[in-house]
Amino acid sequence: MKILVINGPNLNMLGIREPGIYGRNTFADLLALLEETGKELGVEVEQYQSNHEGDIVDKIQWAFGKIDGIVINPAAYTHTSVAILDALKAVSIPAVEVHISDVDAREPFRQISYAGKACVKTIKGHGFQGYREAMQYLVEQYR
Ligand code: DQA
Repeated sequence: MKILVINGPNLNMLGIREPGIYGRNTFADLLALLEETGKELGVEVEQYQSNHEGDIVDKIQWAFGKIDGIVINPAAYTHTSVAILDALKAVSIPAVEVHISDVDAREPFRQISYAGKACVKTIKGHGFQGYREAMQYLVEQYR
């Protein structure tokens, strides 16, 4: 099984950006966790991060026919991007939406998720562990 993990804008700044909300662990720490989790679960993991909406759409399209499950944190594009929603619908690959913070407890504009409408599950507010839970879920349900 191959899992693609997509991280959207500013997540490459983890460890630096708003540590009170996202914690002090870095993006490199997150990538290490994804790799370790992939090994534990016996799945191949490809990771992709971009600050650009169209690039994320391209990566989702690229995944068609190659990837069995997607873990996606679209970051700010969660709340704005119909293009990412449509791309996820287009490829029909099971996708789990992850947010490090509890978006429901933040500003009202963060409580709308377009991408989430095409996802089989949403995990929010579990920090980096949310990615691990998302990968576990995909393996349990779709391997
Ligand atoms: C986020 C929440 C979003 O509202 C925000 O724009 C992010 C990160 C999270 O992981 O908690 O960049 O997706």
